[in-house]
Amino acid sequence: IMKRYFVQTFGCQMNVHDSRRIEEVLRAQGYREAEEPSLADLLVVNTCSVREKAEHKLMSLLGTLRPLKEQKRGIVLAVAGCVAQQEGEKLLKKAPFVDLVLGPDNIPELPALVQQAEQGAPPVARTVFDMEDPQFLKASPRADRPEVSAFVTVMKGCDERCTFCIVPYTRGSERYRSADEIVGEIAGLVAGGVREITLLGQTVNSWHPPEEADLKPSSRRAPSSSQFAGLLRRIVREVPDLARLRYTSPHPRHLTDPLIQAHVELPQLCTHLHLPVQSGSDRILRQMARRYTAQEYISRAKALMAAKPGLTMSTDIIVGFPGETEEDFQQTLRLVEEVGFVAAFCFKYSPRPYTPALKLGDEVGEDVKDERLARLFALVEKQQQKHLATLVGTEQQVLIEGPSPGDTGRFTGRTERNEIVHVIAAEGVDPTGTLVRASIDEAFRHSLSGLMPGASTPPSPSKPARKQLTVV
Ligand code: SAH
Ligand code: F3S
Repeated sequence: IMKRYFVQTFGCQMNVHDSRRIEEVLRAQGYREAEEPSLADLLVVNTCSVREKAEHKLMSLLGTLRPLKEQKRGIVLAVAGCVAQQEGEKLLKKAPFVDLVLGPDNIPELPALVQQAEQGAPPVARTVFDMEDPQFLKASPRADRPEVSAFVTVMKGCDERCTFCIVPYTRGSERYRSADEIVGEIAGLVAGGVREITLLGQTVNSWHPPEEADLKPSSRRAPSSSQFAGLLRRIVREVPDLARLRYTSPHPRHLTDPLIQAHVELPQLCTHLHLPVQSGSDRILRQMARRYTAQEYISRAKALMAAKPGLTMSTDIIVGFPGETEEDFQQTLRLVEEVGFVAAFCFKYSPRPYTPALKLGDEVGEDVKDERLARLFALVEKQQQKHLATLVGTEQQVLIEGPSPGDTGRFTGRTERNEIVHVIAAEGVDPTGTLVRASIDEAFRHSLSGLMPGASTPPSPSKPARKQLTVV
């Protein structure tokens, strides 16, 4: 009989990507996806521990899965991801109804471990990094659910030691994937219908060929993004059908001239960059061990925007880092204005196990964090609104990802700058997977609406027969 899995994912894009690899490993063993947890033989919870909130969410989810696990004999419950790596065996003590604890590098072992659990083996934790022989599970086009946009891992782990961050601990030291493997995977995805690739890594622009890795951790190497720029050029050259290329998340200290030059040269490189800044105060940046000043960040960001007109930027910001004063926070607000971010992920600092920032003391009160977060949100919202409003009346190239959620008759896609657009297509046309021109007619809080040539508004309520459109 066919076994069914259900994967629940928390956290970042890296985790979403890992969940896909988990599914592929299981599908290769004949597993199929279950529509809901209660129909599954195997439950995998892929966890995030980057902030306290994510960890709490996991513990409450495990609580809700417990009755299911106890009622249904033979069901296997696995916890994967960063909390698994961080807690290891301890998690089996905290949640004794869990069968498997699996670190990010141990995904290939999942089917064998599940089989052992089914045969009555005791709970087990496997959280070993593959330092000697790093493996990158290959992403393949998915036949049952074709995708327009896909992620490709270029490196894993992190050698930076930002003092607030648990990632170096849960993901290990940096390991790089070979250019041949990266290009091969992208070519395969594009041949399978993918149009847009996002290269993925914790400090993605520190990439260099694994054979050129010296013994120094990359955090001690001089900033250089020329090898990453070379990788971008090679991808574009060798996969000519790739329509769009993105990467996330770059570290500001590796955004140097050669990478800016690649943005100028390569039309496939999208005109948006997510570049985490964390704070606008030099004092706080130093305490965070970010290794740039606010002015250095600003001048690199401005150099990029000047070299590539129309490029927009987004960022990550932490408020309430230990010792952050009102003046420090105001410097962050000023930096947000000066760079002109069109979006930002804003977080309240949360103390994480094993991180150096724990020793700083000098905690900022929760009410102060809340208040700063609200002010920061308001500023970012204002800038986002202003930016989206400037797009009304313009024409944009939109890569359509599929029908909009809900029965709206529209299709959802993204501009080159990653703005979400809900478009009305011409009668009877399904533009999924194609680049279309859309005239933008309205700006909402976080998205836009637009019309494709030949479309009339509003969309006809009767569902049109879908025709595949050839590439525009
Ligand atoms: N380089 C990674 C960063 C991973 S963590 C990347 O590719 O995105 C993602 C974001 O979470 C960080 O940029 C930071 O803004 C936030 N973050 C990390 N640790 C945090 C903590 N202890 N408290 C609050 N926010 C944190
Ligand atoms: Fe974390 Fe800093 Fe690395 S935020 S992932 S330690 S670059």
